[in-house]
Amino acid sequence: MSRVYNFSAGPAALPLNVLERVRDDIPDWNGTGMSVMEVSHRGKPFMATAAKAEQDLRDLMHVPDDYSVLFLQGGATMQFSMVPLNLSAPGQSVDYIQTGSWSKKAVAEARRFCTVNVAADGAAQNFTHVPPQSEWQLNPQAAYLHYTPNETIGGVEFHFIPQSGEVPLVADMSSTILSRPVDVSRFGIIYAGAQKNIGPAGITLVIIRKSLLDRARGDIPSLLGYKVYAESDSMTNTPPTFAWYVAGLVFEYLKEQGGLAVMARRNERKAVKLYAAIDRSDFYSNPVQVDSRSWMNVPFVLADPSLDGQFLAKAERAGLTNLKGHRSVGGMRASIYNATDESAVDALIEFMSEFERSNA
Ligand SMILES: Cc1ncc(COP(=O)(O)O)c(C=O)c1O
Repeated sequence: MSRVYNFSAGPAALPLNVLERVRDDIPDWNGTGMSVMEVSHRGKPFMATAAKAEQDLRDLMHVPDDYSVLFLQGGATMQFSMVPLNLSAPGQSVDYIQTGSWSKKAVAEARRFCTVNVAADGAAQNFTHVPPQSEWQLNPQAAYLHYTPNETIGGVEFHFIPQSGEVPLVADMSSTILSRPVDVSRFGIIYAGAQKNIGPAGITLVIIRKSLLDRARGDIPSLLGYKVYAESDSMTNTPPTFAWYVAGLVFEYLKEQGGLAVMARRNERKAVKLYAAIDRSDFYSNPVQVDSRSWMNVPFVLADPSLDGQFLAKAERAGLTNLKGHRSVGGMRASIYNATDESAVDALIEFMSEFERSNA
């Protein structure tokens, strides 16, 4: 077997230990004589697996009892519509912090349903920083305040939780969830597509304060309302059972590793190392303001972009894959989520120095 160092932004690397469990489980899962993909979601074995996944996630994130945990479909992008449809009345004013491509998309979708106030916008600095909260123009009457704690494409991350007063705080945590401990009680809604730190693509996690479940508009499709899922343990219709099961294995794995405080230490160490390697060279650079740099997605460019193709091809041959930056920004991006070990970051740093030596 030969596994590469995978720096994909998502779908992203999964822990090898989890993949091996899946492989072993497939022919005869849990003594059923079937794979998990072949059993009813309403049968006891799957219900127990689903419930354990939820409990393990609750344990990992210390989710308070007055929050529902939902396992949905539609990706984080579906949440761009579900959030306004469930938390605001038509035309009502909502606040958004715009720090890059994903928050821009969230704003564009919300504009279809409500009046969006972009309370802070990183566009003037080309989305290379988180504007300090002292500069935000928040509306205390807003139905909610939405932000994107980590911009996966730009590599811009909030290293603080915004103060939203009485206004429910909504976070698109797609690319940062489970990378460190977070105080869930500060949020109205946390949502995340699974395909980075949670598991395979196809499932979306929503953690919502129960008191917000009654704010939905009356005329929305029933499958776009949070309450119907909260009342049916996310089994309103057939859930993505395989993705849910794998997510459960990832949660178990994270607990075995020692939980989110341990992951935070590892993730910070990986990021610090990689930024240090970029900063000590004139050959590479990262455009993001130091206090807003992401632990999870590290974009960098070469001083001479004509070497980009060669860099990527050589990296690929050295077993370092998926380093191409997003098509909207170019350059490189190393995504270093939970399942990307420190050894992968070491290998990347070593490759970068060697490439610099032979091309400087
Ligand atoms: C921060 C963020 N939000 C939203 C999305 C969109 O997620 P999905 O493809 O699950 O709809 C992504 C995807 O990478 C993301 O990184």
